[in-house]
Parts: sequence; structure tokens; C-alpha cells
Amino acid sequence: MSTNAIAALGLGVVGLGRAFMLTLPSILADKRIRLAGAVDPRVEAREEFASRFSAPAYETLSEMLNNSAVELVYVASPHQLHREHALAALAAGRHVLIEKPVALSLDDSRAIINAADHNNRHVAVGPSHSFDPQIAMALEIIKSGKYGALRMIRANYDTDFMYRPRRAEELTTKTGGGVIFSQAVHHIDIVRLLAGGKTRRVTALTGNWDKARPSEGAYMALLEFENGVTANLTYSGYAHYDGDESAGWMGELGQRKDPSEYGAARRKLRTVKNPEEETALKAMRGFGLGELPRDPDGNEHFGELMLSLDHADIRIGPEKIRIYGDEAVTTLPVEPLAAGRRHVMDAIWQMVRENHLPVQNARWGHATLEVCHAILKSAQGGNWQPLKEQVAVPGYPIENK
Ligand SMILES: NC(=O)c1ccc[n+]([C@@H]2O[C@H](COP(=O)([O-])OP(=O)(O)OC[C@H]3O[C@@H](n4cnc5c(N)ncnc54)[C@H](O)[C@@H]3O)[C@@H](O)[C@H]2O)c1
Repeated sequence: MSTNAIAALGLGVVGLGRAFMLTLPSILADKRIRLAGAVDPRVEAREEFASRFSAPAYETLSEMLNNSAVELVYVASPHQLHREHALAALAAGRHVLIEKPVALSLDDSRAIINAADHNNRHVAVGPSHSFDPQIAMALEIIKSGKYGALRMIRANYDTDFMYRPRRAEELTTKTGGGVIFSQAVHHIDIVRLLAGGKTRRVTALTGNWDKARPSEGAYMALLEFENGVTANLTYSGYAHYDGDESAGWMGELGQRKDPSEYGAARRKLRTVKNPEEETALKAMRGFGLGELPRDPDGNEHFGELMLSLDHADIRIGPEKIRIYGDEAVTTLPVEPLAAGRRHVMDAIWQMVRENHLPVQNARWGHATLEVCHAILKSAQGGNWQPLKEQVAVPGYPIENK
């Protein structure tokens, strides 16, 4: 074994589904990380994992936690299992990377924070699009103060999220279905990072437009931050227009799209006769049945994003950032990451090997989840919802005057 292999971080996965598939290219591209084990009830996923990666695959998490090569557990199971899986991993002394959302209820995310503190282990929440490199660049521009204070953020994305194959729980809000827990969570993470993190209040309307898929598929949310920054988030998961068109046909996951495939998700869904068939179709997008995703062509993104500062408007895309200043327009290229989720790999490496907690930690994920719940609550009553458990971005300018 080489020195590199000995030093590599042993990652154990819980849930070999779609999320794992999307993160896998970044894990495989990173010499610092090695797959040390996996858990999934699906036998085909376990067999494929064991043969492809020469690492053990287990039916239950408790079995994997007996494997000392697993240093960090990547919780990529359905939302409703995040608490149980994170708590078991933390109690067994492992660090944890939890897919967004950190959990479903605020009680669950509080339990994860407490377990991390109690066991003296670290938790990161992601991948989330707040880890995209163009977001990190934009944050540095804001922090530099070169263009004055940030005042307003507009974020907008149109997708066919609601018409991709789903498990039944993904279409019921109570079990974490709809776009709030799966998509707004990205939007909120991005704007919280850029605006300093501490949301003061939220008001929102949501759309639940398709009786056959009865959960929130769209939202318009207005966030006000403690430093006075405002953010407007709009998302439709029922869209016919593809928001990736305005990103030069770069898909959310960094793969260039073919516009001639217009309507593919709806066409495919029409071939499904019942929920069981739909669940099976979703499983095809996970590990063990479908093809592995191809390597990304460029950076991931989460739709249109425009910042208004005192002395510039800044348009953020996956390939370039355009700064419309007082007297000139500047274009900054965003270097494509060889592996799309490289910044998430950096975060877990630093967390485990260098004892450095990322911004997107359990308390951060909890604060983002608080905003998700505030959106749902506001949409029911139409009121501004105050936020109480927000956390700041370290080193963010203290105050916007
Ligand atoms: N960051 C992203 O880009 C991204 C993308 C998709 C999903 N996600 C997140 O990942 C999580 C999983 O969603 P998904 O779309 O991958 O779902 P999925 O249905 O594709 O995958 C879930 C996997 O977990 C397995 N599983 C079920 N019960 C289990 C158990 N008790 N122990 C271990 N494994 C179990 C299933 O067999 C399946 O393989 C969700 O929280 C979702 O929000 C994130």
C-alpha cells in the first residue's frame, strides 16, 4: 500500500441511491478518499458495490460500523432516515456527511447537533449547491467589500423536478416530499451563505398544482436577513421551460444538456402505470441497476442568481461571473472543477483530518431547515415567520450599513 492509500480517508456510504450516484464521480476522482464500505437493503446495489470497489457491502448500518476502516459515514439514505443513521454513526465514533436536508424535523436536526457535540465528532451537510465554486467566488467578492454592501439577491430556477421518477414519500410533504425539503434547501443554503447566514424572517407562497403528485412543487419566498439583505427565491418544479437554457445548457449537475431532449421526463413518466413501477424506475437511477453517471463537463449550479450591491450587480453562472460595475463590466471565468463536488471532498477531508468544521455543518443545516419549515408555515398562513436558530457565516462583514 502506498503512503497515499494509507492516508486516504475511509468513507462508508449509507444508501446507494441517486444521491450516491451523483457524488460517486467526485469520490472516485479524489485520491484522498477511498470507499471503505456501504449499506443498502437492495442486494443488486450491494453486489455491484462489492465487486466494483472491492469493499464490503452490508445489509445494515450496525454491521458497517464494526468496520474500523470506515472513518466517515456518508448518509445518503432517504430524508426520513437521516436522524437514525447519523445518530448511530456518531454514537459509534464516526464523523458524518449528511445529504441535504440534514433531517426532516427541527427536533431531528437538534438531536444530530447534540449527538455530534456529545460524541465529539463532526458533521457536514451536503453536497449542496452552496459548495459550488462560483458561490465561493461570489462570497469572496462580497467579503472583499470592493463593490460596497450586498443589498439584494434574486434566485430563480425552473425544472421538471416533480416529473422525475419518485418514491411515494417524495410526493407527500409530511414524509419530506415536494420541492421544499429537496430543492428550496439548496436555494436557502446559497443565499444564506452569500448574505451572511442569519435570516431574520421569511414570507412565502407555495404551489401544489398537480393532484396526481400532491406536494409543494413550486415556491416564491422572500427572506430578510439580520444585516438588512433581502433575497427573493422562485422555483418551479412543474416547469416546461428549462432553467438550464439560461446557463448555456449546462445542467444542474454540470453535464451539458441536449435541448432536443425536451420533455423527456414527462414522456418517460407517462409510460409508468402505477406507484410500484415509478419506484422501480427511480431505483434505476440509483447504483446497481442503471449506468454510472458520466463525468461532468463543467460546474454544477442551481439556476439564475443575481446580486445587487451598492456599486455593482453581479450575475453568477457556472462558467462565469459577470460584474456590472459603476463604469465597466468585468467577466471572471469560473474554473471548472475536474470533479464536480470537489469542494465537498475538501470539506470532509479538512473536517476529519484537520479538525476544521465547514460552514455547512449540523448547526448550519439546522438553520437552513428552519427556513424550509418557515416557508411551509408562512404559505399556510401568509404571515412573516421569525427565525430563531440561525447561524452566521464566519468572517462575514459584520454589518451592511
Ligand atoms: N445532493 C444532491 O444532489 C442530491 C440528489 C439526490 C438526492 N439527494 C438526497 O439524498 C437522499 C437520498 O435521496 P435519493 O434521491 O438518493 O433516494 P434514492 O431512493 O435514490 O436512494 C436511497 C437509497 O437508500 C437505500 N435505503 C433505503 N433504506 C435504507 C436503510 N435503512 N439503510 C440503508 N440504505 C437504505 C435505498 O435502497 C436506496 O438505494 C435524500 O435525502 C435526498 O435529499 C441529494
